[in-house]
Amino acid sequence: MEAKINKPWQLVLSLLLVANCMQHYCVHGNSKKAHCMYIFGDSLSANGNNNNLQTSAKSNYNPYGIDYEEGPSGRFCNGETEADIIARRVGISRRIRPYLNSSASDRAEAANHASAAAGILPETGTHRGENINFQRQIRNQRDIYNEIANRLRSYKKAEHYLGRCLYYIRIGTNDYLGNYFLSQFYNTSSQYTLDQYADLLINQLSGYLQDLHGIGAKKFAVYGIGDMGCIPYARARFGQNGGCYEQFNIAASIFNKKLEALLSRLNNMLRDSKFNYVDATAGANIIPPGFTVVNASCCLTVSNATCVPNSTPCPNRNEYRYWDGIHFTQAAYRDAAERSYPPINDLL
Ligand SMILES: *[C@@H]1O[C@H](CO)[C@@H](O)[C@H](O)[C@H]1NC(C)=O
Ligand SMILES: *[C@@H]1O[C@H](CO)[C@@H](O)[C@H](O)[C@H]1NC(C)=O
Ligand SMILES: *[C@@H]1O[C@H](CO)[C@@H](O)[C@H](O)[C@H]1NC(C)=O
Ligand SMILES: *[C@@H]1O[C@H](CO)[C@@H](O)[C@H](O)[C@H]1NC(C)=O
Repeated sequence: MEAKINKPWQLVLSLLLVANCMQHYCVHGNSKKAHCMYIFGDSLSANGNNNNLQTSAKSNYNPYGIDYEEGPSGRFCNGETEADIIARRVGISRRIRPYLNSSASDRAEAANHASAAAGILPETGTHRGENINFQRQIRNQRDIYNEIANRLRSYKKAEHYLGRCLYYIRIGTNDYLGNYFLSQFYNTSSQYTLDQYADLLINQLSGYLQDLHGIGAKKFAVYGIGDMGCIPYARARFGQNGGCYEQFNIAASIFNKKLEALLSRLNNMLRDSKFNYVDATAGANIIPPGFTVVNASCCLTVSNATCVPNSTPCPNRNEYRYWDGIHFTQAAYRDAAERSYPPINDLL
């Protein structure tokens, strides 16, 4: 009955399946781990998919990656992102590759679909050029599903395998910063109130999450939007006297409430699956021990957004919450990952 193994990566996949079986049936103790993981989202989680796209939303230059083993990789951070930290924590031992630079054997274990500037709405972020929007990220995941089903000669087996993977989903910030609140490029704010716009986003997201479920996904960690009114970009461009811009935080909290309600509906509707909400605003009002600067970026920025190429960043990067005008430092991601882990661990 076993398909003949004639490609190295097919062997990898078989071993992963065996490992999963062992995990499920034979191993006891505190070994709750994910053997596979797929990441969806934007620049908060990106690790290189935009490097060769026609877009200005890139970070594969210095000083990005100054504290990362490979240097600038396309991560919008000095070091590891929260997705990297969570991946290791759930037991993915290899670095997860960006989908556009992954081999079939990489993709059978994990892939990162995240793309800077991407949002839930296809038009979001397109003023920067190309991005892989959420719908396309799911289409790429469908290609992985087909690839695995071909190798296993069974869609059922592919679904069984993919149903044990962790799906890390963190998207929506750009639908505000790179759409609704960017009226020189987008007219959504003249068409929708914040409440209507959140409904629109949540309805789209609902369809997309069900699409993912249709291609085997069962363990969903879905992040809300963080306190985007407090990022240095928002403080400098919209806030008063360097304070947070509350309108952005209000938008985030409207979205987050509706997201939590959606996930609870999906939990009732799709009983073979689990959708856990991850609160990205948790700890927003706490200054973690050791942090001294939480209102400014560590690197010099272009227009209070991304780092000035080849600029010298602050030396005390572990004391800063924000790396550039929009994204967190590795230190802040490590701190946040502590709080994100419980709802993620609950899926495993
Ligand atoms: C793929 O990743 C490798 C290793 O990180 C890098 O050297 C290479 O330039 C990347 N290729 C593409 C097409 O992005
Ligand atoms: C908003 O812009 C889109 C194109 O970006 C256009 O198709 C649509 O008609 C516009 N809607 C309004 C109400 O201006
Ligand atoms: C915004 O950019 C200006 C000019 O580079 C800088 O002086 C200011 O400190 C920045 N604001 C924040 C909040 O980073
Ligand atoms: C950050 O806060 C400190 C202390 O309140 C203040 O001195 C500094 O000007 C603020 N920086 C920015 C960029 O707003």
